[in-house]
Amino acid sequence: MTLRRILVLGTGGTIAGAGGSATGAGYRAGGLALDALVAHLGALGLAAELVPQEVARIGSQDIGFAEWRALHAACTAAMDDPAIDGIIITHGTDTAEETGLLLDLTLPTAKPVVLVGAMRPADAVGADGMRNFANAVKVASDPAAAGRGVMLVMGDAVLAARDARKAATSAIDAFRTFPRGPLARVTPASLDWFGPAHRLGEAARYPFPQELPRVAILTAGAGMDAQPVDALLGIGARGIVLAGMGQGNAPRTVLEALARAAASGVPVVRASRVDEGLVDRNVEVDDDALGLVAARALGPAKARMLLMVLVANGVTDAKAVQAAFDGG
Ligand code: SIN
Repeated sequence: MTLRRILVLGTGGTIAGAGGSATGAGYRAGGLALDALVAHLGALGLAAELVPQEVARIGSQDIGFAEWRALHAACTAAMDDPAIDGIIITHGTDTAEETGLLLDLTLPTAKPVVLVGAMRPADAVGADGMRNFANAVKVASDPAAAGRGVMLVMGDAVLAARDARKAATSAIDAFRTFPRGPLARVTPASLDWFGPAHRLGEAARYPFPQELPRVAILTAGAGMDAQPVDALLGIGARGIVLAGMGQGNAPRTVLEALARAAASGVPVVRASRVDEGLVDRNVEVDDDALGLVAARALGPAKARMLLMVLVANGVTDAKAVQAAFDGG
């Protein structure tokens, strides 16, 4: 049998973390070299050839444009390389949803791209990294995984990157998926897709940006005033995401200041500080009158990423920004 060849791009995170303690206390995310992880996995006899390429060895709180650009370039090269069948990216879980969405927006769907992380360091009791990694190999090796966009494999589930959200600080099933459920269940021995690939043959939705503009998240709180909005404009914010109350709401004075920002050409997207649910147009807040955009299913972190990509590509008009948030 010809083995599937999988490019493994390492960035660090807890999956590459160790602290020399059973409890995981004091561990350092990204401390382990990718080669060591891949060698360990290779010894488990998985039916794939793994090709490691280290992009970074950091905790994902420190990930940014340089690492994203390197990941995008490596994925693009692998998409064009007939010797590579799929791509795995080892990543910290804290910002996996942001990296996942950025790559989902800027890569074609021709080959599977799978992010994988862990909630427990490699040497802690009950470490989940090797199992998640083995599951990711199973997914990235499956020809039926292409055409589904970028995916995240955690806790025996395959989630669409656009829908995945970290919802627990330390549980090993830390991710939820909204508005769609998981794409598949996976174990090292089995992979069951819940439906056909719906993005087969799709090109990249947006070019990868030359740089990412400053887009800020403003969290609404009871009793706040509008000064933070003015402060964000003062530091040159080119877009604002409101992590609003309930359905993306905020005190009247804050909404008025956001409307002034939108009128000045700074797009404003209303998301919610609530864990889950849609933020729809013109329900509690009159978006038409205020010139605002509703984030729909995207939470604040992913809304910020989509807005950065849009602004970088010159899309700032409220109607066009809304259309991008509406398009699943
Ligand atoms: C990180 O995101 O790098 C640390 C936390 C984790 O990987 O779970």
